[in-house]
Amino acid sequence: MRANPQDTLARIRERGAVPRHVAIIMDGNGRWARGRLMPRAFGHRSGMSAVREVIEGAVEAGIGYLSLFAFSRENWERPASEVEALMDLLVEYVGREADELAEKGVQVRVLGDLARLTPAAAAAVREVVQRTAPNARLVLNLFISYGARDEIVRAARALAREAASGALDPEAITEETVSARLYTADCPDPDLLIRTSGEQRISNFLLWQLAYAELFITPVLWPDFTRKELYGALEEFQKRDRRYGRVTA
Ligand code: IPE
Ligand code: IPE
Ligand code: MG
Repeated sequence: MRANPQDTLARIRERGAVPRHVAIIMDGNGRWARGRLMPRAFGHRSGMSAVREVIEGAVEAGIGYLSLFAFSRENWERPASEVEALMDLLVEYVGREADELAEKGVQVRVLGDLARLTPAAAAAVREVVQRTAPNARLVLNLFISYGARDEIVRAARALAREAASGALDPEAITEETVSARLYTADCPDPDLLIRTSGEQRISNFLLWQLAYAELFITPVLWPDFTRKELYGALEEFQKRDRRYGRVTA
C-alpha cells in the first residue's frame, strides 16, 4: 500500500536535505477542464486548490523558497475572456488566502511586469506583499506577467545605465552582478523545477536561474497536483546526483 503523505515526508527527512528552492510551472488547467467538457476558466479555478496544497506542503517540508509560474508575458496573447478570468481569479485568490498566508508565515513576493496588471489585480498583490513582508518561514514567489528573456533584458539595461553613468566598470560585471539585477536578486537559484502536464519545455521561465536545477516533469495536470505529488518530486530529487559538470568521487 502507498504511504500517506506524512509517512513520505518522514522518509524524505530521514534520507536527507529537501531542496531549498522549488520552482513550479503550473501547467495543464485548460486540458483538465476540456477533459470535463468545461470551459478553460473552470480549470484555472480548480488549479487554485493545487496552489494551496503545494504551499502547505512546502511549509510542512521545510522548503525555504517556492516559485510558482502563474502567468507569463506570452499568456497576455490568449483570448481576452481568458485573460480577464485569470486576473479576476488572482484578485479572488489573494482576497481569500491572504489571512492564511500571513498566519502560516508565508512571505509573498510578486515578480514580473506588474505595470500590465489590471488596477484591481495590482492593488490586491501590492497589499498581500506588504502585509506578509515580515514573514520568513517560506518565501513564495508568484511570477505574474513574467518572461525570463524580458527579465534578462531589464537587467542588461540596468547594467548599461550604471556603466554609462560611470558607476560601474564593465570589466567588473560578473555572474553575481547580473543575478543581482534580476527579479530574484535575493533568492538562491532553484534546486528543483517541477512542470506538470507532461510538457517538456521551460516556456521562458527563469532561464538564467535554472542553470543547474534538477528537472521533474510529471504528466499530472495542475488541478490534480497534491502534496503527494510534491513529496514524490522531493523523493526523486534526493536520488539525483548533482555533479555541476564535475565528476563524483
Ligand atoms: C496553466 O494552464 C495556467 C496558465 C498558463 C495561466 P494552461 O492554461 O496553460 O492549460 P493547458 O496547458 O492549456 O492545458
Ligand atoms: C507556461 O505555460 C506558463 C505558465 C504556467 C504560467 P504555458 O501553457 O503558457 O506554456 P506553453 O504554451 O505550453 O509553452
Ligand atoms: Mg499550458
